[in-house]
Amino acid sequence: MTSISDHSRDIPILTAVRAAANKLAQHPQDHGWRDLYRLIGFGLSSSSPQLRKLFLENANSQRDSSATHLITLLGISLKIVAVDLFDELRTKDKPESCLDSLEAVLAEHGDHIAAILSSRRNSFTGARRFLVPQVVLGAYFANGYPVDFADLGTGLGVLPRQLNAQRLYNTFKTGLRWAGGTPSFQPIPLRSRFGVDQGPLPRIDWVRACYGTSPYYEGLYRELMATFDDPDVRASEVGYSELDLLDTDDLRAFIRRNNINAVNLSYTLYELTPESRTRVIDTLLDVLRPPGVAIVTEPHAELTRPGCTVTVYDQSTASPMTIVTVSDGHFTGRVDPLPDYEQFTTLHPITYEFAR
Ligand SMILES: C[S@@+](CC[C@H](N)C(=O)[O-])C[C@H]1O[C@@H](n2cnc3c(N)ncnc32)[C@H](O)[C@@H]1O
Repeated sequence: MTSISDHSRDIPILTAVRAAANKLAQHPQDHGWRDLYRLIGFGLSSSSPQLRKLFLENANSQRDSSATHLITLLGISLKIVAVDLFDELRTKDKPESCLDSLEAVLAEHGDHIAAILSSRRNSFTGARRFLVPQVVLGAYFANGYPVDFADLGTGLGVLPRQLNAQRLYNTFKTGLRWAGGTPSFQPIPLRSRFGVDQGPLPRIDWVRACYGTSPYYEGLYRELMATFDDPDVRASEVGYSELDLLDTDDLRAFIRRNNINAVNLSYTLYELTPESRTRVIDTLLDVLRPPGVAIVTEPHAELTRPGCTVTVYDQSTASPMTIVTVSDGHFTGRVDPLPDYEQFTTLHPITYEFAR
């Protein structure tokens, strides 16, 4: 009898997830997931019938997900179903020694894991990711034009609450050095705010599970929780909606119904296949109320290198403007300009408190 593992080395989904796991395993920063990714990559390169079966049998329900996202979601699923074994699976010893344990977990909990992979997405939510959208939207709408804003792929939904929270901006701005100095706080003329994610909307337990187990992530999680206690964050009015961004008709209807003219997608599109990313952006640019703008923050090299790039899609310019890189995806470190920064700031000046 031929087993599923014998002839699966050239199957595209397995090739893709194996490559993604191996690249994630080489990320220069380790905040608690890297050894697990190494084990998954090793498993997919050797005999691991359960691991292969998981991806092969569920390929259909995962067809819109990027390979990187599938690997991170498998990591989260293992953390949930194998609480007792999770540390063992992440041992720094050679992965060969852990593969049997991984296969045993998958044999026992495969159905539960498959259900998570087909119904959930990685909803890690960062407390500092509003900093750049605050600056970009403040500059873009400095003319006072009313803004109806939606954060698409909002995770726990903190970012739409944080916009215009000046105290919070002042607290976090010191951790992010811009090449030109510190951008002055510029309020956005917000008229309405929405947070959008696929259903079921991520709740605190799910988002907690999406954080790695390390002191570093513990600190970030505490920061996220503390942010919800900020008085401005608590006071802001945000409408939350369940919506699959890949349902183009629903996305159009939502944007039109709410007159949205500004959207933010932060670490959302990398979870989708490249074709789906393009479809979402094209739909948005077609349907946003003019003057419409989309800010897209995407991790470098599909999450396999530190940091991210921020791109502004402006309905009134012919092509997207890739304006800055951020050295750390949790929005600490440095913001450095990219070639389109000048074009953006010529159109929409960013002012600095302390210019360098
Ligand atoms: C990694 S989280 C980022 C959360 C937040 N934007 C941040 O940067 O902190 C990505 C979010 O995008 C959502 N997402 C991904 N694909 C989606 C889709 N097709 N429709 C709706 N939400 C989606 C996920 O559910 C997840 O909550």
